[in-house]
Amino acid sequence: MALSTNTTHHTQTLTVTLHINGKDYNLELDPRVTLLDALREHLALSGSKKGCDHGQCGACTVLLNGRRINSCLALAVACQGAEIVTIEGIGEGEKLHPVQQAFIEHDAFQCGYCTPGQICSAVGMLREVEAGWPSVVSADLTAHHIDLDEDEIRERMSGNLCRCAAYANIVPAITEAAQQRQTTDKEAHR
Ligand code: FES
Ligand code: FES
Repeated sequence: MALSTNTTHHTQTLTVTLHINGKDYNLELDPRVTLLDALREHLALSGSKKGCDHGQCGACTVLLNGRRINSCLALAVACQGAEIVTIEGIGEGEKLHPVQQAFIEHDAFQCGYCTPGQICSAVGMLREVEAGWPSVVSADLTAHHIDLDEDEIRERMSGNLCRCAAYANIVPAITEAAQQRQTTDKEAHR
């Protein structure tokens, strides 16, 4: 990892390249800057939200190499070389991601503050389920197929809090997105 150091006004900065939503961004950053602050304050990618800034609420969730992380707990300099996907890049251009579409259809938000994190987290979570990762409520920890029922969704999404308590609609939205994904996969393998 090639980093150049610059000292301006007694603050050391590093030249950092972040690969976000398919594009490279070069930034001069204090090495203490989190990925969340780099996104929001330096790149105007304000879809990722700052709720707690302590890894407790999930509002800042993004995907790093396909896995969900709390961007408030990641240092931007440590994310060089990774594929970062934020809510701004989760769809394909103008086409919404199926999880985004399902959130709209199920009215799965009120104020919407937690929603970008909920959606990024759900996308990462569905991949974990497909990969056969069990959760603490999975009955069979060795099963290859996970039945993504409400308990599984609630447990797996428990790191994403919604202060409006829109869970009653978030869970059905994720259920529908998961079912659609299964149907699409089956059709693709016919
Ligand atoms: S802002 Fe990152 S978990 Fe709350
Ligand atoms: S919709 Fe308001 S915090 Fe979740």
